[in-house]
Amino acid sequence: MDYKIEILGRKDSYISQIMCEIRDREIQKDRRRFRSNLEKLGNILAYEISKSLKYEEVTVTTPLGMSPGKVLKNQPVIVSILRAGIPLHNGFLNMLDLADNGFISAYRHHTKGNEFVIKLEYLASPDLTDRDVILLDPMIATGKSIILCYNALRELGIPRSIIIAGVIASDEGLENVQRHIPEAEIYVGEVDMELTAKAYIVPGLGDAGDLAFGPK
Ligand code: URA
Repeated sequence: MDYKIEILGRKDSYISQIMCEIRDREIQKDRRRFRSNLEKLGNILAYEISKSLKYEEVTVTTPLGMSPGKVLKNQPVIVSILRAGIPLHNGFLNMLDLADNGFISAYRHHTKGNEFVIKLEYLASPDLTDRDVILLDPMIATGKSIILCYNALRELGIPRSIIIAGVIASDEGLENVQRHIPEAEIYVGEVDMELTAKAYIVPGLGDAGDLAFGPK
C-alpha cells in the first residue's frame, strides 16, 4: 500500500517557528498564545490539505467582466476530537469556511497504573456517506483515539475519502493509524520518535488540552 503522509515541519517555512513556540514551555505559559498558535497551524494545515481537494471550473462575473476560476467541487466535513481539537478546528474553518462540521469526544479512562482505555461519549456529525472527511486530532500519540473515532464515524456513512491531520504524531501512533486506516492521507506538523509509559509524546509538547483550556 502506498501511504500518503506529509510532515509539514520538515520543509523550511514559517510552520517551523510556530512548532517551536507551541513546544516551548515558557511560551506555553500564555494560554491565549498557545491556542492562537494551534489555530495558525490549523490555517496552514487546511491550506496544504486544500491542494489535494477537487475543484471545478466556474465563471465569475466581476464589475468589469467575466473571470474564469475554480471552486471546491465538494465541501469537506471537518471532524474534531474534543477537546484539544477545538483551536485547530477554528483554524481549519478560517480557511475552509463553507465546510460542514462534526465533533466527537474521546478521553482516556485510566484502569490501573499506566493502563487506560479510550472512551467515546459525544458524537455530532452529518451523514458521512460519500463525503470527504478531514479528521483532526492535535496529538496522535498511540493513534487509538483516531482509529476508534473513525470507526464510530463510519457508522454514520462510509466517506468517499479520509484525511487525518494533527500537530505532532508519534512514530508508533502513525504506524498504528496507517495499519488500521490504510486509505487515509495524513498531514502532521512533525513526527516524534518516543512515547512515555503514560503514552505522552516525547519531546512532544505536553497535554495539548490542558495547555489550551487549563487543567481538568
Ligand atoms: N495528548 C496530548 O495532549 N499530548 C500527548 O503527548 C499525548 C496525547
